[in-house]
Amino acid sequence: MFLLKDAEVVAAGSTRNVYRHPDDPNLLIKVIRPSAVKERFERGAPWYKLNVKRRRYRHLIAYLREIREQIAVHATGSEHPPFLQKIVGVVETDMGMGFVVEAVRGRDGAYAPTVAELIQRGEMDQSAWDKLGTFFQDLMNSPVIVADLHPSNVVLGYTPEHGDHFVLIDGIGFKNIIPIVRMSARANRWSKSRKVKRLRTAVEAQVARVAAGETMVEESRPKGAVRRSNLAGKGRTLIITLAGL
Ligand SMILES: Nc1ncnc2c1ncn2[C@@H]1O[C@H](COP(=O)(O)OP(=O)(O)OP(=O)(O)O)[C@@H](O)[C@H]1O
Ligand SMILES: [Mg+2]
Repeated sequence: MFLLKDAEVVAAGSTRNVYRHPDDPNLLIKVIRPSAVKERFERGAPWYKLNVKRRRYRHLIAYLREIREQIAVHATGSEHPPFLQKIVGVVETDMGMGFVVEAVRGRDGAYAPTVAELIQRGEMDQSAWDKLGTFFQDLMNSPVIVADLHPSNVVLGYTPEHGDHFVLIDGIGFKNIIPIVRMSARANRWSKSRKVKRLRTAVEAQVARVAAGETMVEESRPKGAVRRSNLAGKGRTLIITLAGL
């Protein structure tokens, strides 16, 4: 059992806290915050209103979605692709089931910055755009299904083998009740191309706003939950709603 309750949170999203793996610096443990379980997954719905999957897997269904996509990639006979976060396993923690993944690190050895952070730092230069283009291409050419493609779910990592490259670390898998994207590779490509286009447009708009001196605060779903509030600065503040990306 890993004790994480009092451990340092190295990163957080709207539902999960991310911790260093106590035994291995190359790994991270993701845990769903108990408050997020309450707000986002229980919402007072009586059990008979939850669909069968929700009833069985409850808030842990997100992990099932992500693992399924990693299996889908390996089923094609490919090695693990560099653009996709590598899931290593699950462990027991004092905050419930922990999801163990390989930490993506940047050139400087620190945890890899997200696209949202690169925008905020003014680092979405031409070279970063080129790498983002390669990431989009790799994503389109893979069988991976994507649910949420947004700037906090893509990070810029570095390895000697692959150089600087973007990695999808969340938002993997399908959420629709009728999984057309799973049944048809064409439907999946179409769905991904729409998400890629929207992300590209959103990043362009955010880059322009930051260049104009606005400070970006990303607002994530559900409405009102502010992610990465540490990005809030002193200047004029721009709230960017990413719902629907
Ligand atoms: N494999 C990884 N390597 C490095 N950093 C990571 C990794 N996975 C997650 N992170 C960092 O932790 C943050 C939160 O992780 P993650 O996106 O999985 O949480 P979440 O709560 O599910 O997010 P969302 O708000 O999109 O639902 C990311 O935005 C990123 O900064
Ligand atoms: Mg995320």
